[in-house]
Amino acid sequence: MALAAEFGTPLYVFDEATLRGKCAEYGEEFARRYPDTLVIYACKAFINRALAQIFKEEGLGLDVVSGGELAIAKSVDFPMERVYFHGNNKSRRELEQAIGWGVGRIVVDNFLELSLLDEVAKEAGVSQEGLLRLSPGVDPHTHAYITTGVIESKFGFPIAEAEEALAKAMSSSYFELIGFHFHIGSQIFELESYREAIEIVLRFAAEMRSKYGFKFEEFSPGGGLAISYTQDSPAPTIAEFAEVISSTLLEKSKDLSLEPPRLVIEPGRSIVGQAGVALYTVGATKEIPGLRKYVSVDGGMADNIRPALYGDRYEAVVANKMEEEDLERVTIAGKFCQSGDILIKDIDLPKLAPGDIIAIPGSGAYCLSMASNYNASLKPAIVLVKDGEARLIRRRESYEDLMSHDLV
Ligand code: LLP
Repeated sequence: MALAAEFGTPLYVFDEATLRGKCAEYGEEFARRYPDTLVIYACKAFINRALAQIFKEEGLGLDVVSGGELAIAKSVDFPMERVYFHGNNKSRRELEQAIGWGVGRIVVDNFLELSLLDEVAKEAGVSQEGLLRLSPGVDPHTHAYITTGVIESKFGFPIAEAEEALAKAMSSSYFELIGFHFHIGSQIFELESYREAIEIVLRFAAEMRSKYGFKFEEFSPGGGLAISYTQDSPAPTIAEFAEVISSTLLEKSKDLSLEPPRLVIEPGRSIVGQAGVALYTVGATKEIPGLRKYVSVDGGMADNIRPALYGDRYEAVVANKMEEEDLERVTIAGKFCQSGDILIKDIDLPKLAPGDIIAIPGSGAYCLSMASNYNASLKPAIVLVKDGEARLIRRRESYEDLMSHDLV
């Protein structure tokens, strides 16, 4: 309530202790089972300069997918050797920027990129280390829009083309191939999918060792661990995730007589998701007797498009009515001009009145990073809370910001 009053709404509030706690949990759970692990945070879930600074302090690396994310990392002097550059259509300019700034690894997605990278690295006179992104053909049964490792995915080399890619990469003088990456999807509950995909990629690595003498030094099974958005959908723990990955990697390496590679994991959502809460103020209400009661708030799909895009469900509480037990069923609607702009359909909440503050937990991942200025709306302010103190880490946009790129 105090934060909403001080900073206005919609407001995104991140809890620093939760954020650092998740970083530490990832570090510890993997270190205990597979000491040679680097945890890199997937910036696409949400990054800005304050968060990048925290990940730097926590000793994580970063997975970046654009020149923009790379520039944010650079702006806080992030150790570039811990930065991995992903993406299925990196531009020449982005590759030049990445190589010029000395990123640790480039994760190559396709044949065009292999040639481009070779050229750019040659021009820069460097030997660039990197991985090939493989598409292992495993379906983790998450939402189709966020499934990435199936055969028809736009990402990576299907295993059938991977040998040609490897031969091409190994013949390059400026790209040094040191391993493989895959990412099978996001919001994954079925951890067995990782086991399946790791086995496929390790078998491929062993085959390439015998055929080409390929040295498999580094392996990244991506990110993707689900978080629990609602009470009835408990997600696997970080420990369970670490266990499946580490044990499969150790067992399969042994079976195939491979030296266990250095492990790189790329969590996004499961680090930042639960650290963020969105606050909205209640405004107008519309009741359609016998059908539905809409309660509109001052944000919606411009700051969180996930319910509209994926049909995802969130929980909510009313910050100023936490003790009230008399509930009614409502639908929380956003304020944007589209009927599908619904944040939560059919949720039981205390009777709402204009001015009440609705808090939606689990809003830290893929909300702000996918935010838009739809309806010429202003992107929300963001605060970081630590030991009861709140610090503004992004000011609310202004109309001047909105128009600052327009030329008349
Ligand atoms: N590594 C790669 C190569 C990825 O493509 C992704 C996510 C991650 C790591 C991190 O995955 P995470 O741990 O966050 O699940 N907009 C969607 C999610 C798209 C995820 C894209 N890739 C959503 O709102 O659910």
